[in-house]
Formats: sequence, C-alpha cells, structure tokens
Amino acid sequence: MNIALIGHGKTGKEIERLAPEHNIKVVQIFDGENNDGASGLTKQSLKNVDVCIDFSVPHAAMENIEAVARCGKSLVVGTTGWYDKLPEVKKMVEKSKIGFLYAANFSLGVNIFYHGVSIISELCDKFHFYDVAIAETHHTQKLDAPSATALALAQTVMQKFKSKKTILQETPRTKIKPEQMQITSTRLGSVVGNHRVVFDSEADCIELVHSAKNRTGFAHGALIAAQWLKGKKGVYTMKDVITSML
Ligand SMILES: NC(=O)c1ccc[n+]([C@@H]2O[C@H](COP(=O)([O-])OP(=O)(O)OC[C@H]3O[C@@H](n4cnc5c(N)ncnc54)[C@H](OP(=O)(O)O)[C@@H]3O)[C@@H](O)[C@H]2O)c1
Repeated sequence: MNIALIGHGKTGKEIERLAPEHNIKVVQIFDGENNDGASGLTKQSLKNVDVCIDFSVPHAAMENIEAVARCGKSLVVGTTGWYDKLPEVKKMVEKSKIGFLYAANFSLGVNIFYHGVSIISELCDKFHFYDVAIAETHHTQKLDAPSATALALAQTVMQKFKSKKTILQETPRTKIKPEQMQITSTRLGSVVGNHRVVFDSEADCIELVHSAKNRTGFAHGALIAAQWLKGKKGVYTMKDVITSML
C-alpha cells in the first residue's frame, strides 16, 4: 500500500521510519515548504497514493483535508485543533465519497486502554460498591492540564458509570459530591505520559494503568489506521479500528 505523508515533523518522521514494518511505502512527503496553502496536494501528486496521513499543524489541517477530499483520496488525520469544523468535514467526506479517520490520540495502547476502561466501568456500575477517579502524570514542559487523554478517559468512564456526572479538576478543600469524578494532574521530570483509572470499594481496588514510553505508539496506530481505512468510505475514529478487531 502507498501513502503520502502530510507533515514531516516529529510524528511524520516516526511514521516514515516504521512504515516498512507495516508493508507500507511512503511515496510522497509534504511539509510547510512544498505544501504552503495545500498547494502540493493535487490529483497528479497523489496519483499513486492509496491513503494520506496528516500530522501537520492545526492552521493547515482544514486546507489539507479539503485538498485531499477534492482529489478523491482517503485520509487519516492526527493533527488536532480543527474539531470545531467536524460537521463541515463530514459533509465534504460524504460528497467526495472518501474514507476519513481522525483521533486525538492514535496510540494503539491508549485506544486499547479506553476499551478496557469502558468494560470495567460498565461492570462496576452494575454494583454500587465502587467509586472511581483518574490520575495523570506528564513531564514538566506540558502546557495543558488535565491531559486531553485524561478528559477522554473521563468521558469513557462517565458513559458507563452513571453515578458520575461531572469532572472535578481542582484539588478539593472539602468533601466532594458523589456525582463528581476527580482527575488529578502531576507534572514530574520527563514522564512521557501516565494515566491511571482507579475503581475503589471497601473490599478491594481495581487499578488500570497506561504508561507511554515514546512517540512510537502514535506512529504504529496511524499506520494501522491507514491500512484499515483503505477501500472504506465514511468517517471513522480509532474506536472503530479497535472494536473491529474484537
Ligand atoms: N492524534 C495523535 O495521536 C497525535 C500524536 C502526536 C501529535 N499529534 C498532533 O499532530 C500534529 C503534528 O505533531 P508533531 O509533533 O509531529 O509536530 P511537528 O514536529 O511540529 O511537525 C509539524 C510538521 O508539519 C509541517 N507543516 C507545516 N505546514 C504544513 C503544510 N501546510 N502542509 C504540510 N505540512 C506542514 C511542518 O513542516 P515545516 O517544518 O516545513 O513547517 C512539520 O513537518 C500536531 O497537531 C500534534 O498536536 C497528534
């Protein structure tokens, strides 16, 4: 299978390095120099491409999506920061009859982790013995807190664990309400990313932990997503990839 890489930074380079392991050939590479305003993405330049993978910059993502859709090529998008335009993108995908897959976190391990958290949340919700909380740790250079992944985990838990209705991000100075689910954030040294979901009862404690070691997980996830998307039409996320493997 042939892909075009749109964005050749830290993640794009990792995807290029790992592509041969997935029997994928990178036949075109676009960056800020040869693709200003999506000018490089044409029917001619994408002629031999099965699927494009975009890990570029938020301000270029929409132009790239529009250009790739116009060329009738399927697209995996890792770039974040354009999700307010999702309704527009869905219309574009339908009109151009392409396949489109996006995710805020392509790490295979994190997506498997979401699935496990969802199943355990559903089971714990059936009994009324458990409480639940989330803890995340990242390096000291991280700009946001809680992490987007911790917030996505909280949504995953709350979809199944019905007694939790709101997220508490601040450290409470008093009792917390039963419907609040706390997320705690720690910034420590060079930790790449650690997420812990704890289900606690009087009798026992179930802890699910995901620890990222590097960027390899994002790259493998994007390449697996590209293989999965080939020949499909419509809008998908990594959840569709993971659940289709069950
Ligand atoms: N969803 C996920 O799992 C996941 C994981 C990691 C990162 N991300 C997201 O993916 C994006 C890239 O992350 P990164 O860490 O790889 O960033 P990065 O190292 O800063 O790389 C960005 C790349 O985009 C290129 N670029 C700029 N304008 C472009 C355009 N018009 N067309 C094509 N490429 C263009 C840059 O090229 P120049 O150097 O020539 O400007 C550079 O190669 C970010 O939005 C990040 O948040 C998502």
